[in-house]
Amino acid sequence: MQEKILSSEANPLSSLELWEDNLLKRYPDPKAIAKERATEAYRNYEDPARDTVKEFYRLNHTYQTYEFVLEKKASFLKFDKKEMPVWAAFDFLNQLVDDSDPDTDLDQFQHLLQTSEAIRQDGHPDWMVLVGLMHDMGKVLCLFGEPQWAVVGDTFPVGCAYSDKIVYPEFFKNNPDYNDPRYNTRLGVYEEGCGLRNVHMSWGHDEYIYHMMKDYIPEPGLYMLRYHSFYAWHREGAYDYLCDDHDREMLKWVKLFNPYDLYSKNPTPPDWNQLRPYYEDLVAKYLPATLKF
Ligand SMILES: [Fe+2]
Ligand SMILES: [Fe+2]
Repeated sequence: MQEKILSSEANPLSSLELWEDNLLKRYPDPKAIAKERATEAYRNYEDPARDTVKEFYRLNHTYQTYEFVLEKKASFLKFDKKEMPVWAAFDFLNQLVDDSDPDTDLDQFQHLLQTSEAIRQDGHPDWMVLVGLMHDMGKVLCLFGEPQWAVVGDTFPVGCAYSDKIVYPEFFKNNPDYNDPRYNTRLGVYEEGCGLRNVHMSWGHDEYIYHMMKDYIPEPGLYMLRYHSFYAWHREGAYDYLCDDHDREMLKWVKLFNPYDLYSKNPTPPDWNQLRPYYEDLVAKYLPATLKF
């Protein structure tokens, strides 16, 4: 509902999930963790959806400039917009309803819970379960009026040349940075091997949730949060020249997390009443009582 308040021109996707369905098409589930869901997504993937995803990336690649990223960081990383108890934040996130998408019977919280449950069932550390639960909380940016292209979609470094491993690379020609000599060389504003922590990524829900969680979650979990949409790096192997050894060490954690995000979707919601005590303890163990947005 909320998404419709924003103009469809700025927000071509009828549902944020269309971006994720597109990811499933680009990166189909090799192990078939949720084979049924993946095939279903594939089957439902019609041309109009593909066109809106394409239009979404056109906007994303055109407007995510180095300057834009610095502005958004200056604004949102002050965390002065809102303060909520953690569980109220999930209710807030759930105001992002995709009622136009026939495929979306599950709300945002269900995706988070299914991701975290899949991680838990595989016996990973509890902080990684928490990462699963929190990783898309940054999508609340949509509820602060941010356009879809500044919230979701693959992320990429700004301030240096764009890799052709990024989806729809042709649209970067529309970006002013593409012709700006400060930003359009291989290194741009960076140094060889400077480490991803010194690199500005395109702005969206990854960077935002990373900053929200950075004092509370172990380092590998922070990498999962911060780079989960950086497909050109964790799936395509691009941008290694900006990485240092620490990034390369952490990459395996980012790769470990990705299939849980992409392939855990299931039409049957987990039994929240049964799971609730575990998650209340988990959240209380790692996070403060309220979160600042
Ligand atoms: Fe995400
Ligand atoms: Fe996700």
